Amino acid sequence: MAASSINLVIGANSTIAKALIEKLQCNFPDDPVVAISRSASIDFSESESQRVDWIGSDYSEQSMLAISTHMQAQKIYFNRIFICNGILHDEEFLPEKRLNDIDKQVLHKLFEVNAFQPVLWLKHLVRLLPREQECVVTVFSARVGSIDDNERGGWYSYRASKAALNMLFKTAAIECRRFAKNIKFLAFHPGTTDTPLSAPFQKGVPEARLFHPDFVADQLLKLLRDLPEEPILNFLDWQGEVISW
Ligand SMILES: NC(=O)c1ccc[n+]([C@@H]2O[C@H](COP(=O)([O-])OP(=O)(O)OC[C@H]3O[C@@H](n4cnc5c(N)ncnc54)[C@H](OP(=O)(O)O)[C@@H]3O)[C@@H](O)[C@H]2O)c1
Repeated sequence: MAASSINLVIGANSTIAKALIEKLQCNFPDDPVVAISRSASIDFSESESQRVDWIGSDYSEQSMLAISTHMQAQKIYFNRIFICNGILHDEEFLPEKRLNDIDKQVLHKLFEVNAFQPVLWLKHLVRLLPREQECVVTVFSARVGSIDDNERGGWYSYRASKAALNMLFKTAAIECRRFAKNIKFLAFHPGTTDTPLSAPFQKGVPEARLFHPDFVADQLLKLLRDLPEEPILNFLDWQGEVISW
């Protein structure tokens, strides 16, 4: 990485993203962190929050364009981008167990948040990726987005939206490689991590397999240190193991 690298964390109010921001600040104290979230509030300590440039966004394309245009005008180029957004359930729906549970609105919502918004961010941020310095774009995927790995079924919308996310980023990675050899891509599976997203599904998870967000953030930063140039999109879990598509 460059002597001073600029970090961008999108979906910054995610539990894992907040742990990641703290680890970035701790491991790379000279590297600025820009955080984007729907949420205007931050529950970091005062000293940490002062060092994060927090930007509110409704994740519309208009907002993505406005933010990226503003950054380009300021000649900001990002060396590490983390796109953390993801939903599995909310107060109105739970993951589907069977075909009969499939609801078109839920499918739309999960594809919107888990696949469309991340790739639209990339569309607008690509002009802010440096062409010579090292640069890694990490998108939070999930093992359940692997088609090969799907042995248990269920969770139709979440699985399908993460599989779509993987395909969108693989396609983007191929395109980016044509004009910038320095950009690496990672689709990251954090493992089951103790956050609101996994909260309703933690019962059967052995204690040792339910990770603390700090642990996951550390693992991710370790992975980025030695991320290979090939494959063009790495699909890796928290311990660096390759996940098949
Ligand atoms: N926790 C796990 O066990 C686990 C396992 C595999 C993969 N993951 C993935 O890891 C990532 C981080 O998740 P987390 O566990 O830290 O979950 P979390 O604490 O629930 O964070 C949710 C994230 O999704 C965004 N989000 C939520 N609702 C949204 C909406 N309606 N529109 C746009 N963005 C929305 C939030 O962005 P704002 O900052 O804008 O609020 C935030 O980044 C997700 O992509 C998730 O799929 C998690």
